[in-house]
Amino acid sequence: MKVDEKKGLKVAIPTFGCQMNEYDTQVAAGLLAHQGYTLVEDESEADIVLMNTCSVREHAEDRVFSRLGMLGKAKRGNPDLIVGLMGCMVEEHREKLFKRFPQLDLMIGTRNIKELPALIEEVASSRQQVARIKQDGISIEYTDLIQRDSKFHAWLPIMTGCNKVCTFCIVPITRGAEVSMPAREVYREASRLVGEGVKWITLLGQNVNSYYGAYYGGVTDSATLRQPGSHSNASSEFPELLDMLCQIEGLERISFTTSHPSDATEELFQVIAKNPKISRRFHLPLQSGSDKILKRMKRLHRYEDYKQKINRLRELVSDISITTDIIVGFSGEAEEDYEATRRAIEEIRYDGAYIFKYSVRAGTPAAKLPDDVPQEMKEKRHQDLLALQKEISMGKNRSWLGRTVQVFVEGQSARNADDLLGRTLQEKKVVFKGPCDLIGTTQSVTLHDVKNETFLGRLS
Ligand code: SAH
Ligand code: F3S
Repeated sequence: MKVDEKKGLKVAIPTFGCQMNEYDTQVAAGLLAHQGYTLVEDESEADIVLMNTCSVREHAEDRVFSRLGMLGKAKRGNPDLIVGLMGCMVEEHREKLFKRFPQLDLMIGTRNIKELPALIEEVASSRQQVARIKQDGISIEYTDLIQRDSKFHAWLPIMTGCNKVCTFCIVPITRGAEVSMPAREVYREASRLVGEGVKWITLLGQNVNSYYGAYYGGVTDSATLRQPGSHSNASSEFPELLDMLCQIEGLERISFTTSHPSDATEELFQVIAKNPKISRRFHLPLQSGSDKILKRMKRLHRYEDYKQKINRLRELVSDISITTDIIVGFSGEAEEDYEATRRAIEEIRYDGAYIFKYSVRAGTPAAKLPDDVPQEMKEKRHQDLLALQKEISMGKNRSWLGRTVQVFVEGQSARNADDLLGRTLQEKKVVFKGPCDLIGTTQSVTLHDVKNETFLGRLS
């Protein structure tokens, strides 16, 4: 197909899962737009539907399977429709899915995104099911073709994969061993983004604070692969990277996610404390408050170690907001283990928590353990913790009322175009009245109310 012919073709990329997927979608969209395709939000008007998928919980996969069913029906009415999958489900299930879903035309691995335009052409001309799923290499593409959804904020992946072996988690299977981008590539890309007007960058990685691309035997030009199992004694180079990125003039804010407790070091806390550009939100998944369950999960930390780290971080950075991930109903979780998690949440008083019900992922080490907490019990514990956390978050948020804080103005509020939407340094949302030309700037805003986790404020 020539560029002109593609101009008429519309592509939708419904995206599930984490921010890494959002980034990959922006890259895919950029590559396809460059080829002449038109990106659309509404998949019912698309000629090509590419789902960017997530495998982390059963529910995420079920949503994709049911969408595939609907797309199968749509295809009967429109045989030219091209249906494709990208993301973690491709890595997990691979070509097996072609048999189960004949409506599926293409599958592209997380390390093959660059080949997407060629693959679509191949499907269009051959009408065969085609897949490209590379086993090694890095799944990070830096490209100036990327279609970001914000002029001022950008995701920036710096590493992928995970060398930890949390027994419940499928990420080491879908994303493979840790690979870090070289520090100078990261620096160059961050500087390029700032040159385009970006003021806030969020560094991404499945295990971001285990980053190891900086001074690995001197600055390297190629991505650095850490051998599986090398996490335990090698210290991360993430604090140095953060420190270096803080030097970029014009870059106002740096966030990062997701961190692992065992790589959350004093050195990292010190770098956060001394750099006001670094976001005052720290996401540190606890998963469980019971040492017995943490051990069964192979989380590499005990509750006390974790709590000490949080205490130290709070001591150094008093206005830090701390958020976490919790799993209820993991294999072997007795009432007392659950109570330990509940106590941990009460003790630490997180600003926010993502609370999940455990679901078995095939191929993970925990798939060999009994899934022995009944579904109703998982549900009950889930609801109980959601309610507890809601109350704690509310109390935390109320303690900010009356204060005047620095807010980065992201854009107009989706609810009301007369309102602006911004984020505090703790990444809490604030809605306030103000002119559109403030978008992309940092303003002083007084917080006077909070509803459903969003503050209402006034420019001061
Ligand atoms: N470090 C990773 C974590 C990915 S999974 C990253 O952010 O990229 C995100 C969260 O999903 C985990 O912290 C965990 O709380 C939850 N999770 C992972 N596997 C799960 C499973 N099998 N069942 C329920 N929740 C799970
Ligand atoms: Fe998963 Fe644990 Fe790594 S949650 S991404 S195996 S740190």
